[in-house]
Amino acid sequence: MKILFVASELTPLAKVGGLGDVIGSLPKALNKTGLKLAVIMPKYAAIDNKKWRLKKILEFVESGEKLTVYKTTIPKSLVPVYLVENKKYISRGPIYFQKTAFAGSKREIDRFVFFSKAVYKMLKERFIDADIVHCHDWHTGALVRSLRFSDVGPQTIFTIHNLANQGKSGRFNGMREGINNADMVTTVSPTYAKEITTKKYSVGLEQILRKRARQGKLVGIINGIDIGFFDPQKDNMIDHKYSSSTLARKNKNKITLQKISKLKVDHKAPIFGLVSRLTAQKGIMLIPPIVSEHVEKHNAQFVFLGTGSKSHEEKLLELAKRYPQNVSTNILFDEVMAHKIYAGCDFFLMPSRFEPSGLGQMISMRYGTPPIVRVTGGLKDTVRHLETGFMFQKESAAALKKATEAAIAILRDEKLYRQMQRRCMKEDFSWDKSAAKYKEIYQKMLK
Ligand code: GLC
Repeated sequence: MKILFVASELTPLAKVGGLGDVIGSLPKALNKTGLKLAVIMPKYAAIDNKKWRLKKILEFVESGEKLTVYKTTIPKSLVPVYLVENKKYISRGPIYFQKTAFAGSKREIDRFVFFSKAVYKMLKERFIDADIVHCHDWHTGALVRSLRFSDVGPQTIFTIHNLANQGKSGRFNGMREGINNADMVTTVSPTYAKEITTKKYSVGLEQILRKRARQGKLVGIINGIDIGFFDPQKDNMIDHKYSSSTLARKNKNKITLQKISKLKVDHKAPIFGLVSRLTAQKGIMLIPPIVSEHVEKHNAQFVFLGTGSKSHEEKLLELAKRYPQNVSTNILFDEVMAHKIYAGCDFFLMPSRFEPSGLGQMISMRYGTPPIVRVTGGLKDTVRHLETGFMFQKESAAALKKATEAAIAILRDEKLYRQMQRRCMKEDFSWDKSAAKYKEIYQKMLK
């Protein structure tokens, strides 16, 4: 059985968000189960040929356009990656044209429609071979459609990572094409699979999602994380064996974090971390209203890391200006700093309005940091209230405030906090279980 993954990102070659992390790690886990698979993605200008050891393997023409295909492997694995280059449509400009990562322009739609065409041709001409083509998000919707209405052969599975980003232009809707035309549709958590059949979460696609669910063709499988990459022991951040030094290490991490983010060094100050795209989805607007009171009442500290929409960036920057000793706002993405936040803060914030899976909460738990999350999507499926984190229901700053206050109360009781930390670190967020579920789906499809 041969599986071909098709996607727009792959960490570490091209990462914008969680999609890249999934495409960079799930194929490795599937490969370990004995499946043969490869990934195909666009060759963006920013992907360095030398750094990633790309080898040119193919040139061909589609719609009068010249295409070049390179090959490499996912780092630390034998999984092949094919990268498709085309000067006019695919390879010009950044990975996405909008800072929020959401599709905005016709130029962006054209890029991925053309990429889909190129992959279709490669399958048709047997440049690559697959029994199942596993497509991810709207960028690959046009490919799913072409495969459905052809005799090229492979079956298709389409995974929804984020329904809010549909890739629409005129009558074209990449997400809808994928959902409508795939042999099987999945999304990245069981709760999100249910939520998206309701008006509140379906972003206008509830009809077709309900239809696919009725057909038994919509399934939720929770994401995992690359536990080799997010390894507290390797990062020498936390004693992985939960020995008596765990808390001491945690304190050390906290002080390191306070130093690098230029906050007042104070191991008693409760510190909340955020690593996120700064968009409405992530519930960022719930945070500014609670900051002042927490700073003034509890001497709390906040570290923010991420980029996104201007208004969110500005709000968080304003807070850092107002409270330089307590708030650190970092408008960038930096993997090293992200790890320091996961490991060094007392609590990790994820007040998302919706969250298909979410990876940050799993990473923070692995680093011994209980997350504070809204009860939605993958957050609901991975966090246990008052066991491994804090959950709140209502999309309001007041509800978030209540949850953060409960968290501060636990932090003041060293024993309770440590128990919670230990439970967090014992959770299994590896890909093993979920990879087995994907494998089962592939096997059923080929029966
Ligand atoms: C999107 C979703 C996020 C999910 C990720 C990977 O970024 O917003 O919840 O974890 O895709 O599936």
